Amino acid sequence: MVNKIRSCVFISGNGSNLKSIIKSSRDYNFPIKIELIITNNKKAKGLNFAKKYNIPFKVFSYDNRKNFERNSLNEIKKRKIRFLCLAGFMKILSKNFIKDFGYQIINIHPSLLPKFKGLNTHKRVLKSKEKYSGCTVHYVSPVLDSGKIILQKKVLINKNETENSLRKKILLQEHKIYPKSIISIFK
Ligand code: GAR
Repeated sequence: MVNKIRSCVFISGNGSNLKSIIKSSRDYNFPIKIELIITNNKKAKGLNFAKKYNIPFKVFSYDNRKNFERNSLNEIKKRKIRFLCLAGFMKILSKNFIKDFGYQIINIHPSLLPKFKGLNTHKRVLKSKEKYSGCTVHYVSPVLDSGKIILQKKVLINKNETENSLRKKILLQEHKIYPKSIISIFK
């Protein structure tokens, strides 16, 4: 694929989803190329992938959301980014940011949306004695975790499931459905 879509990934932490997207994007036929990584957390482990794969990155404080969004948008526009992936980005983007960016934004969430929107997902899922959980890739809309669903994968919750075992099990599926979703969007 010659004209890959210039894309940016927002992260806040480990960046394992970022890694899976970067790896997929190295395939000739994958539709996007990661040209920029932005984080609100200067200690995000995921920044190591930016360094390893030589991808430009920026750290912008989120202490003030307006500044974070303005700085991010400037950088995104400068680099002609046309697609944005949120991958473990633990902050909320404003309606104005979504509008001003003007292109598609997608997110991954570790639950079977519309169930368990928001934070501390696995803890709440276990507490409510669900039989299944999973992960969802969806478009980002101004309402948190509520945009149109692109792909979902369900996992069974075992009897002795812990938050940690569930997190790991779901992450394995996240790493598969995130690249798959990107392929499906641009097919
Ligand atoms: C992932 O499980 C992702 O679904 C979740 O954070 C984790 C990040 O892992 N995102 C959210 O909870 C968003 N509300 P990663 O940094 O290793 O990709």
